[in-house]
Amino acid sequence: MTEYTTLLTETRGRVATITLNRPEALNALNSTLVRELIDAALAFDADPGVGAIVLTGSEKAFAAGADIKEMADQSYADMYLGGPFPGWGGFERMRTPLIAAVSGFALGGGCELAMMCDIIIAADTAKFGQPEINLGVLPGFGGSQRLPRAIGKYKAAEMILTGRMMGAEEAERSGLVSRVVPASELLAEAAKTAETIASKSLPAVYAAKDALQAAQEMPLAEGLRFERQAFAAAFATDDQSEGMHAFAEKRAPEFRHR
Ligand code: CAA
Repeated sequence: MTEYTTLLTETRGRVATITLNRPEALNALNSTLVRELIDAALAFDADPGVGAIVLTGSEKAFAAGADIKEMADQSYADMYLGGPFPGWGGFERMRTPLIAAVSGFALGGGCELAMMCDIIIAADTAKFGQPEINLGVLPGFGGSQRLPRAIGKYKAAEMILTGRMMGAEEAERSGLVSRVVPASELLAEAAKTAETIASKSLPAVYAAKDALQAAQEMPLAEGLRFERQAFAAAFATDDQSEGMHAFAEKRAPEFRHR
């Protein structure tokens, strides 16, 4: 397994966990961390033995944003060319479901990283925010696009224009997180969710993730057409036959692809 300087990685059964590990900077996303994170995530994504990935940070911070000190002296051209953070495209196109397990601060790029995941499970201590406005800039890892889609224009505008943080309870009420759990149970709950997903048919999981992605990107009519095709295509897999016959025979399915 590759050794990283800013991450810890482990695999248990079909669940991989990536832990952001720059405690001295509250897991601020510097160029090394971003490069290592994308590398680790894509390696797990390419491994058919991995059915779901948990992404987490420390108790105090999931991630406190892009690394401000590293960015401070960048120019327009530096940032336009990818700056210290090139290459999110592959991460955003991963097929394996990603579960963000968020404790403490998820700010700026940290909040945006959580929003790149499919599911966000938050500890009751979690704090979300897009404070870039306080630095004289705006969100740069997708926050101005994903936050309004998640919580609506008006709440997103208030957060992005004022830099206000939102606690876990408000985040759940607003639709930013899937579920809030006590901090002490965060990793166990995220692992349980990941194990559940990893026990399903992999082609069905990939297709469902694709369809959910389409819902974010396509107009409704196009998304519905996409879903109709994907649903029909599921009937070309032996896992569809197994899943439906297992139900009729009152037994647990034995999916071939998982
Ligand atoms: N970049 C670089 N270093 C950071 C950092 C960041 N985003 N966030 C925290 N750190 C560092 C601090 O500088 C400090 O380092 P030193 O001990 O060497 O001084 C260390 O982490 C601990 O932080 P604090 O002492 O500030 O801890 P705190 O508990 O008093 O405050 C906090 C916590 C409220 C999260 C505060 O650290 C903070 O406001 N951080 C910045 C949050 C932010 O503005 N994020 C957005 C970044 S820009 C961005 O993300 C752009 C984008 O969309 C791509």
